[in-house]
Amino acid sequence: MWDPAQALRARATLPGVSPFREERGDRWALFLDSVSTDREAFALSVARGLSDNPRWLNCRYLYDAKGSEIFSKITDQPEYYPTRAEDEILSRYAGEIRERVGALPIVELGSGTSAKTRRLLEAWTEQGPAHYVPIDIDPSVVRDSAATLTRDFDSLRVSALATSYERALEQLDDLSPKMLMFLGSTLGNFSPPEVARFLERIEDALHPGDFFLLGVDLVKSADVLEPAYDDAAGYTRAFTRNLFERMNRELGTDVPLDAVEHVAFWNDRLERIEIYARFSETVTIRLKSIQREFRIARGEMVMTEISRKFRIERLATEIGHYGLRLEKFYRDSEQRFAVLLIRRVPKGPRTTLRRKLNAELWETREKTRQIVEPLGDEQLFRGGDRSIARQLEHLAGFEERIRLEHLGDPNGTTDPICTHWTRAAAVHTRRASIAQYLTAVRAQTLRELQTVDFENDHPLLEEGLFYRRLAQHEAQHHEQILQSIQSMAIPYEPVCRVNPPSVLRAPEGSMVLVPGGPCRIGSHRSSRAPFSTPEQWVNVSSFWIDTVPVTNGDMLNFIEDGGYEKRRLWSDGGWVWRTEANAHHPSVWHRDNEGWKEQHFGRWERLARYRPVIHVSQYEAAAYARWAGKRLPSEEEWEMAASWDPEYGIARKWPWGDEEPTPERANLDCRTFGPAPVGVYPSGRSIYGCQQMIGDVWEWTSSTFRADSGSSLETSDPSKELRVARGGSWATSTLLACNSARAFHPPHERNAFVGFRCARSA
Ligand code: AVI
Repeated sequence: MWDPAQALRARATLPGVSPFREERGDRWALFLDSVSTDREAFALSVARGLSDNPRWLNCRYLYDAKGSEIFSKITDQPEYYPTRAEDEILSRYAGEIRERVGALPIVELGSGTSAKTRRLLEAWTEQGPAHYVPIDIDPSVVRDSAATLTRDFDSLRVSALATSYERALEQLDDLSPKMLMFLGSTLGNFSPPEVARFLERIEDALHPGDFFLLGVDLVKSADVLEPAYDDAAGYTRAFTRNLFERMNRELGTDVPLDAVEHVAFWNDRLERIEIYARFSETVTIRLKSIQREFRIARGEMVMTEISRKFRIERLATEIGHYGLRLEKFYRDSEQRFAVLLIRRVPKGPRTTLRRKLNAELWETREKTRQIVEPLGDEQLFRGGDRSIARQLEHLAGFEERIRLEHLGDPNGTTDPICTHWTRAAAVHTRRASIAQYLTAVRAQTLRELQTVDFENDHPLLEEGLFYRRLAQHEAQHHEQILQSIQSMAIPYEPVCRVNPPSVLRAPEGSMVLVPGGPCRIGSHRSSRAPFSTPEQWVNVSSFWIDTVPVTNGDMLNFIEDGGYEKRRLWSDGGWVWRTEANAHHPSVWHRDNEGWKEQHFGRWERLARYRPVIHVSQYEAAAYARWAGKRLPSEEEWEMAASWDPEYGIARKWPWGDEEPTPERANLDCRTFGPAPVGVYPSGRSIYGCQQMIGDVWEWTSSTFRADSGSSLETSDPSKELRVARGGSWATSTLLACNSARAFHPPHERNAFVGFRCARSA
């Protein structure tokens, strides 16, 4: 018999999973996550919402002890029907649901006091022993409900989890079969990207055949909806106001509560209730712990909550994209609310995945073609073994060889992209024959992609990883080819170039504080970014980090202050290099009677002061940092500032979240052919407010590169002299750039598209 407690216990000891503390009682166990909802996470969340336009606050902070008490009063108000309607459904249909589902354990997200679940537990325990796994962020609430429920139901065992939904769902993927439950229409409180991310997590957490019971409030007239969110007795008003009371209590702000008005209205286009706090006077919100300050003008509105209402057919289609099929739905007698019984279905023939990989391979090849098109034959073959032609030939050779070596070996799990590669001798000496070689090998790959079995053929085919790696490898060479073109100083005009955004919204301060604590870095094998560290927990001390990369203008100040000549600013190795290389400024700079200029693809351009500095060695970066009274961040610090979300205890894939990169968020994919000025990608900022961490320039860290054990690079190149750079440049592909991706170079390397930002210990 599947035992959730045992499975959770086993899982809690797995490497890469933060330890859960366990408490036990009679027939119950409580697993407490080490990731807590601390005040710093709250302060950072407030800062994030208040720096957006329009401003917002995360509705999860509505539920402290006082807020939860007020919410429970709201559910008793005559205007607020959802709780009663859902209860009516569950009391009428719990027996039928139990018949359909069988004796599966019930796992409930956001269980609270489990009051609404009792109907189901009655139906379950009537038929024999039952297991219940309540999950809630508040440990005291789950502890109480575990103890009370085991007292009230003789044949019930409870394994409770005190953690966030996001963290809980990560723990549940190997617990099956089960019925997962998310009631109360809480899904309606998520923003559209949050819904998408949540459903992705549900998809991952369920195995084919598992059930998902979802309670949702339905679209209805504004006459019913608006009073439900503005009850006559004033509890909803108090609920909104309590968010600011909580800020005053926990964050030491000084918001005059009388100035906070509750506004709730039905937005019929988006089919949701929107709730705002409107300020009747100008208010300054000071977040002392993170040293941020916000002025809210009189009349300004801050969104505190949305409550989306659903249409069953539309929702059934929406969940269909996440491997979920609606089996049956139940409504209350007035058809105001619905409980949906959903089932996770097996993955189909994977046509979407095949199509996606096919497109990635085509698009990458098209980009290769575009990058080399402007080059003449002499330029293509210049440099012999290091020529661009040899890189192209290598692409086909790599593709051909790793298909045989990696897919041909049923146990070969080494990541092909992390394989140390010795190039074969050149065979193709003409442009046309290299092109033919590339086309022939790729045609074979694409043919195989149409029929390969992702589930069974090979561990490297899981989620099509092998094909993704082919596209990623080729995309890595785009950047290397462009670096070769830049260092040869060939006059080069790309086939297509777009300007970066010009609207500048620089961050308020030059550095932000990242509060220390445990954080998870690296990436999971299945989604593995090339060369990332394996997923692991690290403990990082508080530190400050620059909000934007160091600019040409900053570097100029360093030069003018004699930075290159001051021995004390340089490490021993750095000074030896500086002297031998006779470096007095970044490698692509020079000064003539018009002032400083920068070499850019064979042309000398006037130095753009507001662009991130590029083509600097790690030695130069470290010397600048020391001059500025700072230092380079370690790679753990860099990754924490880019990815860690202390609010949910999860790492984000990109600084802005888990939605794919777009041209508005980051400068990637060889579009602009150079770094964009700092401050033009405000929507790409991280939780802490750092901009341009992904794209524009790779950023040096102070860390030495160590390949993980899955990589043959470890033995082939154990040199300590490789240093880690993070974040990707304007020439890095979207297929590669993410918070955990790494590049590495010797510290004297200046050809790569690398710049830096600085940090300081707190
Ligand atoms: C918890 N959630 C589903 C409630 C709702 O109806 O959206 C929160 C709420 N806010 C104000 N009233 C109720």
